[in-house]
Amino acid sequence: MPLPEKNNRVIVTSALPYANGDLHIGHLLEHLQTDIWVRLLRANNITCHYVCASDAHGTPIMLKARELETEPEKMVEEFRSSHIRDLRSFNISHDNFYTTHSDENKYFSELIYIRAKESGFIENKQIDQLYDEKAGLFLSDRYVKGTCPKCSAENQYGDNCEVCGAKYEAAELINPVSTISGEKPKVKTSEHVFFKLSKLESNVANWMRATPLQDAVKNKLEEWFQQGLKDWDISRDSPYFGFEIPDMPDKYFYVWLDAPIGYIASLENYLRSNDKESAEEIWSENVNTEIYHFIGKDIMNFHALFWPALLETSNFKKPSNVFVHGFLSLNGAKMSKSRGNFLSMKDFIEILDADYIRYYLASKLSPSIDDIDLNYDDFQKKVNSDLVGKFVNIASRSAGFLKKNDNQIGNNIDNVFYEKFISSKKEITNLFADLEYSKAIKEIMKLADSANTYVDEKKPWILAKDEKNKEEVIKIASTTVNLFRVINAYLKIVIPDTCSKGESFLNEIISSIDDIDDPLTDHKLNSFSPILHRLDDEKLEALIQRGSNG
Ligand code: MSP
Ligand code: ZN
Repeated sequence: MPLPEKNNRVIVTSALPYANGDLHIGHLLEHLQTDIWVRLLRANNITCHYVCASDAHGTPIMLKARELETEPEKMVEEFRSSHIRDLRSFNISHDNFYTTHSDENKYFSELIYIRAKESGFIENKQIDQLYDEKAGLFLSDRYVKGTCPKCSAENQYGDNCEVCGAKYEAAELINPVSTISGEKPKVKTSEHVFFKLSKLESNVANWMRATPLQDAVKNKLEEWFQQGLKDWDISRDSPYFGFEIPDMPDKYFYVWLDAPIGYIASLENYLRSNDKESAEEIWSENVNTEIYHFIGKDIMNFHALFWPALLETSNFKKPSNVFVHGFLSLNGAKMSKSRGNFLSMKDFIEILDADYIRYYLASKLSPSIDDIDLNYDDFQKKVNSDLVGKFVNIASRSAGFLKKNDNQIGNNIDNVFYEKFISSKKEITNLFADLEYSKAIKEIMKLADSANTYVDEKKPWILAKDEKNKEEVIKIASTTVNLFRVINAYLKIVIPDTCSKGESFLNEIISSIDDIDDPLTDHKLNSFSPILHRLDDEKLEALIQRGSNG
């Protein structure tokens, strides 16, 4: 897949995390996958807007605020600040991290709804739903449990049975119970607003065929098409934390209606605070804009079915691609707070620098939607052997020889070898562009291996014993530092903190990947200080402890 066009506007998003809990390293996986891609674009002189936000609405947010005895508005802002802090501490380079509970989002949600309505894609219907009289709430499927109508398994949720796989309506459960109050819910009728997705089936199918989605994503979408797209219920009854639907008192937009619109709202907020064009302009149908969403596989239907359909009926531009990743597990098991297998971003950063896990997760990421495991032992081995043993080692073992030359890189280096390193640039860039991070990193580590082999074979430490080899030794060390510089530039999008320390040593800042096309010669270095420490057993043990506290 080629990189986006330099002359196009480019918008990149990560899914909006719910503002009712701490971010964990699974969230990090997604923001990291996005961030590396965004940094790749920027290193290739492609301007892009990377926007995200807190997902502020919905019943779980409302109930969490009740539990904490606070107002949802206040709680959401507190989680938002804490999420921004967490994401910054891992160097995730969003241009804006806004909130869906904003004026901009209300404006765009109403606009998109009204346009869909005017073009005939909105229909109101009476529906029957389970109602919890004690809590005063209509119950969505996740808040109802009961006995499966098919196989009689007990304690099953309101949408499907985990034992026999049957799909059903919550009202079909035998002996349904509200998980909020424990009471038996009643069936109650209410008017709901539907978005007529069924009429947009061929439209969405055309979008899918024209979009270079991952194969696994296309396959999943095909399954939905085979079942036929059903109209989508976009309203919820009061009490609800969200936006009221225009002309429908006490009815609210379902959180999943306004959540993706939050991407547009975040962009609008960013552009306006920078006095640039409006989001409405650059997200409109006929503008040369490329839009890329990074999401987890659990929310594919919202991004690859409902979202393109909504954009279609409101004359906004549809995604250029939706990149889907799998789930991160921790030491072979699903992350779960209650089961003591959970690592928050905060907990991690208190113990270790961001680059350790940025490197590790990147080295496991690919375009596959299979799940990824963070295994503590593998983690320690990989960062120590690749980053410390291979990469940093190149700089540290040659710095000493140049120190004797007043930290000066000579004017004579092994150009053939340097050219070989530069000639990998295209391949590595393409691998990153295709989300083949694991393969890209393998290529980079092959270069690190060959730089180390070069030093091993030249044996400058032996040559240095004889003054007559002085020039040869400087040439070897100057070449090696230049090889380090190339790798440092390749890795900068993955481990920015470490590579900026590398740049301090090199006494140079690389802003574009093309800056390394010519080698550094006759150049003064800064004296070398350690760039990255080994991940020792003690730190790893502390991390494992945190991860098992839940
Ligand atoms: N609020 C919605 C997204 C709205 S986007 C318009 C949501 N929030 S979430 O907090 O539950 O998840 C945010 C993102 O994190 C999703 O893309 C989800 O797939 C991803 N992940 C959540 N847990 C994850 C892992 N354990 N591993 C990898 N990604 C994970 O869904
Ligand atoms: Zn069953």
